[in-house]
Amino acid sequence: MRAQEIRDAAGEEPLTMLTAYDAPTAAVLDEVGVDVILVGDSIGNLRLGYDSTLPVTVDEIASATAAVARATEDAMVIADMPFLSFGADEDEAIQHCGRMLKEANADAVKLESGQHTVELTRRLTQIGIPVQAHLGLTPQSENETGLFRQGTDEDSAREIVDLAERHEEAGAFSLVLEHVPANLGAAVTEAIDIPTIGIGAGPDCDGQVLTVDEVIGLSEGVAPFSKAFGNVREEMREAVAGYRDAVESGEFPAEEHSHYEDDLDDVY
Ligand code: KIV
Repeated sequence: MRAQEIRDAAGEEPLTMLTAYDAPTAAVLDEVGVDVILVGDSIGNLRLGYDSTLPVTVDEIASATAAVARATEDAMVIADMPFLSFGADEDEAIQHCGRMLKEANADAVKLESGQHTVELTRRLTQIGIPVQAHLGLTPQSENETGLFRQGTDEDSAREIVDLAERHEEAGAFSLVLEHVPANLGAAVTEAIDIPTIGIGAGPDCDGQVLTVDEVIGLSEGVAPFSKAFGNVREEMREAVAGYRDAVESGEFPAEEHSHYEDDLDDVY
């Protein structure tokens, strides 16, 4: 899917977006028909054992994005730009974002947004790098804002609407809205023409996004605004325990898992 198709989807059938961090997961999402696959910096806490998203590197996102892109035919693949890969130096930011398209085969990048990303969004879209903006709770700012609901008072809600409009005007093709009141999700969706993709932002956004680990039940818990639709963690435990028991009891490997060469009979 291209950025223009996503732009055109505002107000149509709800867009579906999920994270993926590896090829087999991306292949399943793509087969099922998920519209957008985000290689989120949530890879940091969900897959790489970090305590937050802050340590995630450009190389880690590039490598995961390349794996996801290799396994994806139809969905749009978005690389989530990690902490400090943008925001300090504009030219450096453009190189990091460009690398996601040139080397990792992403279709677009996502930037956790604020005042500092308006002009960067304009520059990136002008040179052909589609940008998805992200407002509300932006976990890369956790040391500034905490990991709390955002836009809960009039001033901060107005600021989010204003930033949404400015990112649309700068060329963003869609906007992730994280952990904001549902009525603010509805107001932002009303205020801009590009699609809003909500995560904990109510039912009136143009689409929804969650982390795949929560959806399949792989993560240890789920955020209050998220939902597990499966229990892969339990299935993994059962499979691994079954393997351990079968090896310990001598049941595995069985006859059908082994082969013998007659010529080797003389070796002993
Ligand atoms: O990194 C991530 O997973 C995200 C989303 C959940 C929007 O940014």
